Amino acid sequence: MVISDETRSKIDAEIGNFPQRRGALLPALHLVHKDHGYVSTDVAKELAEIFEINPIDVMEVVSFYNLFYDRPQPRHHAHVCTNLPCSLRGARSLLRRLESHFGVRAGEATPDGKLVLGHEECLGACAYAPMMRVDDTYFEDLDFEKAKTILDGLE
Ligand code: FES
Repeated sequence: MVISDETRSKIDAEIGNFPQRRGALLPALHLVHKDHGYVSTDVAKELAEIFEINPIDVMEVVSFYNLFYDRPQPRHHAHVCTNLPCSLRGARSLLRRLESHFGVRAGEATPDGKLVLGHEECLGACAYAPMMRVDDTYFEDLDFEKAKTILDGLE
């Protein structure tokens, strides 16, 4: 078994919150993602058994949402919002400077595996543009120096 007993218990509790078993698949994916950092083929098979569906059904959900991954990931994800309000306040230039600083293009991981830099659609924080999401945390009212300090400080 790849999914821990503790996580399995949490998944079972989530299933109890939904009228149909499958309704708890998204919370379950968040739980296994927290443990493993991605959804491997083995994890997808176990989830499929738990939810009485096919592994491909699990992977279809994984591939639909950009918060889930199907392969090992760098330690951090830094995504600059490049929708219109953030772009009007310099998000695209911020992303270009971060690409230059880290020597990668958006969508690529740094060679040390520390972070993948990318862009994001609107995250609902337009009033604080430009902003970026680093893992589960929003950073707002950014300029290049602020963003560089945040990302350079990641472990
Ligand atoms: S456009 Fe960037 S948060 Fe909305």
